[in-house]
Amino acid sequence: MTSPAEPAPRAALITGASRGIGLAVARRLAAEGYALTLSARTPEPLEAAAAELAGPGTRVVAVPADAADPDALAALLARHEAEHGRLDALVLNAGMGFGSPIAETPLRRVDKHVALNFRGPFALVSAALPLLRRTAALDARGARIIALASLAGLMPEPDLAAYSATKAALVSLCESVCLEEGTRGVSATAICPGYVDTELAAWKTDEIPAEEMIRADDIAELAVALTRLSRHAAVPRLAVNRPGSLFQA
Ligand SMILES: NC(=O)c1ccc[n+]([C@@H]2O[C@H](COP(=O)([O-])OP(=O)(O)OC[C@H]3O[C@@H](n4cnc5c(N)ncnc54)[C@H](OP(=O)(O)O)[C@@H]3O)[C@@H](O)[C@H]2O)c1
Repeated sequence: MTSPAEPAPRAALITGASRGIGLAVARRLAAEGYALTLSARTPEPLEAAAAELAGPGTRVVAVPADAADPDALAALLARHEAEHGRLDALVLNAGMGFGSPIAETPLRRVDKHVALNFRGPFALVSAALPLLRRTAALDARGARIIALASLAGLMPEPDLAAYSATKAALVSLCESVCLEEGTRGVSATAICPGYVDTELAAWKTDEIPAEEMIRADDIAELAVALTRLSRHAAVPRLAVNRPGSLFQA
């Protein structure tokens, strides 16, 4: 436990933290000394991630929650605040992508993409802003929201219309946060990678071998770098390409 004389350690809340990019970010932030709240839907791998990262200097709580459900997100945020008291980095990482041509995409699939990739993040950002502002007032680095969008949010891919559109909306949300909250020390970055070697991209390995994909660790390294910047640097979006491909926003 932190004694009253010591400032509370910087704290991060990460959705989709039980594997892939979210777990890679959690590992890096734990190594930086962050207190963590990890969330995902399935309890067992989430508990395993928390057990891996918790240590004498690292307080980690695991909170199962569906990141498409605003009520579950409100409870997740309340638990984070009760456990850690501050929020230096909010990592909006949980997301889904299910491909199909527009003509064959049922609206319920569109709704699922909207709920998880945009509506949930919007709800969490909205609810978290008071705590982010209070935290930013304590630290010269301010407080950061880091959202995992996608290159597809900057330039749509064929057969990924719902994914691309919802990631574009997430990019726009990060830009709006920078505009509205920047002078209070809160900013947001949409990290927009091409294919990253995780479970989510496994369907693409016939076309792009896993070893040619971006590493989850590279995305985590960028996320940590963002948390080290001063409040004077806002980075609304970051495009991350595979070698041999090039798209810049
Ligand atoms: N991999 C890529 O090529 C790539 C490229 C660009 C952007 N991204 C984005 O990066 C983010 C992370 O992707 P990833 O590749 O690391 O995926 P991943 O390996 O499939 O991991 C997804 C994580 O999110 C959790 N999750 C899934 N649905 C959830 C829900 N409804 N509520 C809460 N948690 C949920 C999963 O745990 P549970 O299933 O237990 O909930 C898991 O912890 C996503 O937003 C994705 O769109 C990925």
